Amino acid sequence: MLEQIVQRIQQFLVQVQSVDVEHMASLLGQGKMLRSKLILAICPEHPQLIDFCAIIEMIQSASLLHDDVIDNAQTRRAHDSINHTFGNQNAIMLGDVFYAKAFLELTKLDTKIAQLVAHSVMELSRGEIKDVMASNAFHSDTARYIDIIRDKSASLMVASCAGAALLAGLDPRDYHTFGLNFGIAFQIMDDLLDITQPKEVLGKPAFSDFKEGKSTLPYILLYQQLDPSNQAHLQACFKNADEQALTWCAEQFKTHDIVPQVFEHIKHYAHCALQAIKGHSALEKVASSLIKREF
Ligand code: FPP
Ligand code: MG
Repeated sequence: MLEQIVQRIQQFLVQVQSVDVEHMASLLGQGKMLRSKLILAICPEHPQLIDFCAIIEMIQSASLLHDDVIDNAQTRRAHDSINHTFGNQNAIMLGDVFYAKAFLELTKLDTKIAQLVAHSVMELSRGEIKDVMASNAFHSDTARYIDIIRDKSASLMVASCAGAALLAGLDPRDYHTFGLNFGIAFQIMDDLLDITQPKEVLGKPAFSDFKEGKSTLPYILLYQQLDPSNQAHLQACFKNADEQALTWCAEQFKTHDIVPQVFEHIKHYAHCALQAIKGHSALEKVASSLIKREF
């Protein structure tokens, strides 16, 4: 099924009639397609299923193309980023092509599904603005962090899961709750992996978040447990972290046992997600396998 989704995306892109778009898109690298995996677990069969998955994956790619410009990222999915290779203008326009073509195809689906997806893109764009605003200075506000990742990361999961439920003729509310909590758990995991995994596993440099100006949960929890002079040091390193500063952060994470604390937050949101869809064994299985990534 995943191969069929990849092929459908390629068909959609051929319809754009641009060799430049096809060329740049071929260098994007394959994502994990986790939203499609969730959709397929919720709705294994429907004539518009492959289209729906392709639309969601194209919106996800569009958001990452724009995000890499915003973050000035050099790598994505273990490849050079499109902005790095072709410049910011092309990366932004390629994102616009993905986004616009996905929305063109979305108009062919049920209005309720189209509204869900359009609403989620509004939320994820709002979340990205909050993220950029928050990057001006380090903050240690857990509620603010959760609010940002709810918009930035969980919103498209909500649309994917609730949309799949609508396609399957199920009540979307439980799947909405699942997507929201799963999306938050998944992003916290992603932010944890940033400090625990080497670049070979991440497909991008380790400790990128702090360097890019992201106050993620591991740093927030650490800050809350540091004495005032070390708090000041952590703040001074924000967006300004050289090798020495990152080694210091890594040591502090160990000393204060931050990884298991972050994992408690992941477990909480994963539990809320699984509670919402109790008994849906196919989705429980996929969700558990996606959340149990490398440590
Ligand atoms: C990655 O965050 C970014 C997102 C999940 C959302 C980005 C959203 C936009 C740019 C809004 C525009 C949307 C469209 C559809 C055109 P990150 O930087 O924390 O993660 P990373 O480490 O994977 O870069
Ligand atoms: Mg980014």
